[in-house]
Amino acid sequence: MGDTLRGLVLAGGTGSRLRPLTYTRSKQLLPVANRPMLFYAIEALVAAGITEVGVVVGDTAREIEAAVGSGAQFGCRITYIPQAAPLGLAHAVAVAAPFLGGHPFLMYLGDNLLKGGVSDLARRFREADWDAAILLTAVPHPEQFGVAVVDEAGGVVRLVEKPAVPPSNLALVGVYLFRPVIFDVVRHLKPSARGELEITDALQQLLDRGRPVHAERVQGWWKDTGKPEDLLEANRLVLEDLSPRRAASAQVDDASHVSGRVVLSDGVVVRRSTLRGPIILGPGTVVEDSFIGPFTSLGPGVRVSRTEMENSIVLADAVLDDVPGRIDGSLLGQGTRVTRRRMAPHAITLVTGDHCIVEVL
Ligand code: TTP
Repeated sequence: MGDTLRGLVLAGGTGSRLRPLTYTRSKQLLPVANRPMLFYAIEALVAAGITEVGVVVGDTAREIEAAVGSGAQFGCRITYIPQAAPLGLAHAVAVAAPFLGGHPFLMYLGDNLLKGGVSDLARRFREADWDAAILLTAVPHPEQFGVAVVDEAGGVVRLVEKPAVPPSNLALVGVYLFRPVIFDVVRHLKPSARGELEITDALQQLLDRGRPVHAERVQGWWKDTGKPEDLLEANRLVLEDLSPRRAASAQVDDASHVSGRVVLSDGVVVRRSTLRGPIILGPGTVVEDSFIGPFTSLGPGVRVSRTEMENSIVLADAVLDDVPGRIDGSLLGQGTRVTRRRMAPHAITLVTGDHCIVEVL
């Protein structure tokens, strides 16, 4: 018991919109600027002064535990909370109740990125008497989100999940603060039409009980990385703020041109190529006779030769060789090979997993 704010990061779920990548890895470990997106969430909590963090995990628990560990690398203590099935955000709260005990807590969806962090909201929540606080942002398609109606003072009037006819354009962002009264609400919650315990329903029930729910607008950008194009945009947004860095062991020959903000990690080799930042090249990446354009992240051990690319994320150990045209807006999984076929017939030959997306000229 106590009133120290605890953290709850949701890292279970299915990640179906990011298949095939999520068949083989957890969505929350997909890289944004070469770091698992989950790391940004944990860092945001630590920056807000939270040192006890629960991480809700599902089928990918082992992988997440291997990457995140004890929390020491972030300056917090992590407790893993298994969720037997992804039955909704409010279900995750119910499952985490023993860890959260009587503490107020900040819940952060592990696939969300917020430039402005959560420190200001956490500080105001600690000082206020709200039973919950949420972050909102105006979106073009509110019907895809939880939507809020607020009064002029920032008090929430009404909430509804993915409404066919949205009552406002203000979507809920994946950050929520709660006081322990929420546990009583989630215990009595009924599944929605899609079979999940919805956090918006839990918030609405707080309102129905006359409890104060506060809302603020997001400062800076917010990104939910549920879909491939969202992940690419998150990558662009994070790379916008990149500080250039060149490891002592990185080699760039005299025939190469490097401009803009570029991170060259240990063991990178660049020959006869043009790099135009912001880009990040992971450890051991080799680039030869190629153009790597803005907003590209190449993971560790990637090899690119005789290829032009930009605005893309490439996971570890992928090989791109002599690819015609220019690769743009692409998300390539670990160990992927994309090459030009040299022998006749000059047909397109594909070996793809389930749910791959291939667009050819
Ligand atoms: P979502 O993006 O809503 O769900 P999902 O990850 O299952 O993805 P998809 O819709 O593409 O299948 O989940 C938001 C975050 O919350 C994400 O990090 C996963 C996590 N989550 C849980 O930990 N438990 C749950 O029961 C649910 C629904 C989500």
